[in-house]
Amino acid sequence: MNVLDIQAREILDSRGFPTLEVDLYLADGGSGRASVPSGKSTGSREAVEWRDKDSERYFGRGIQGAIRHIEEMILPSVRNKPFEDQAAFDQHLIQLDGSSDKHRLGANAILGCSIAFARAAADAKHVTLVESLSSAFGAASLRFPIPMMNVINGGKHADSGISTQEFMLVPHGCSDVSEAIRMGAQTYQTLRDILELKGYRVAVGDEGGFAPQLRSTVEALELLTMAIERAGFVPGTHVSLAVDFAANDFYHNGRYEFEGNSWTSSEMTEYCLEIVRRFPIVSIEDGLAEDDWEGWGAHTSRLTGSGVQCVGDDIFVTNSEIFRKGIDQGIANAILIKPNQIGTVTETFDTMHLAAQAHYGTIVSHRSGETDDSFIADFALATASGQMKAGSPARGERVAKYNQLLRLLEKFPHVPLASDIYRR
Ligand code: PGA
Ligand code: ZN
Repeated sequence: MNVLDIQAREILDSRGFPTLEVDLYLADGGSGRASVPSGKSTGSREAVEWRDKDSERYFGRGIQGAIRHIEEMILPSVRNKPFEDQAAFDQHLIQLDGSSDKHRLGANAILGCSIAFARAAADAKHVTLVESLSSAFGAASLRFPIPMMNVINGGKHADSGISTQEFMLVPHGCSDVSEAIRMGAQTYQTLRDILELKGYRVAVGDEGGFAPQLRSTVEALELLTMAIERAGFVPGTHVSLAVDFAANDFYHNGRYEFEGNSWTSSEMTEYCLEIVRRFPIVSIEDGLAEDDWEGWGAHTSRLTGSGVQCVGDDIFVTNSEIFRKGIDQGIANAILIKPNQIGTVTETFDTMHLAAQAHYGTIVSHRSGETDDSFIADFALATASGQMKAGSPARGERVAKYNQLLRLLEKFPHVPLASDIYRR
């Protein structure tokens, strides 16, 4: 595949900050477009996105430098050069950048080109993106991901005053992804009614979940369990709960400063176990901070012992080297997969292969700053990731991903919904 041209532009993301969109054209007629998301509650070891730091434009968050890198460095180096496959293209970009964290060209510049290439390659081969990705990944079979829908936003994503960043609905007691999406969406609407009835505001946070001024995480879990029941589902059987503490944000000087408490790692772990006992929680993400590796070992064994999925996001940052160390040390039993944490499609595949070998669960994820690009939906299906988190079933940039799953179900009607969340 020969690259003919790449066009890059600055567009706005869902928070109104600039992000990158890339169009890539192959010489034999295939083309693909991609846009890049951006996180707010980021791990410190993520690949580095390019920001201009020009305070005159977008408070320094412009990405014109990333566009320049594509036009002046990436395009001249790939134009009319044959690339056998995605791995060869991505390897070229990695070498061209030459840094370990992609700060030279910018992880946003690199990922935009990598995903646009994936789409253009599928187009050139006249196959769907899912088919093209799944053969590049080497998936044995396809599976629709169980959606994780973030319906109450806290932490850095909302001014709700709750320390916990994300409260997610996990609709899994069904055989079909459209049923799962319906169950999640109906529960979301029922939650809205409950919040209104109780006099809470129903404004939403960055990921489209409600951001009410609740007293505590436990109150949020109570309201969610009530919403599942009132929507006509059985908590834990049809719809379960998942939590992302994003504990980095309240970890200071070795203590977890959580909702008026100042806890050690083992106290934080005790708290996780207590809410698991009280509520239908199947998954806990970043229950401890990325630097608390010692705490994570005990945290994992305690949670795994009670049958809960224990997810590493900020601690692993989709980086296969860091993840390998985590596997060796028995940290977490599942990994969050965010392509922009590492910067290319191929490296994201590598981390997922490692997860499969080590029997870790995988959750393909959006970022809090998103666009209407629904790549992660195709990616989650193609890699049989098992789970996908894409925010609430509301707001255009979130539903873009769920709606793409509904379209894909028309194309792949016999592909089942995954069924492998850790269960008690
Ligand atoms: P971010 O948060 O996209 O703001 O980094 C998402 C997460 O922590 O899972
Ligand atoms: Zn997270």
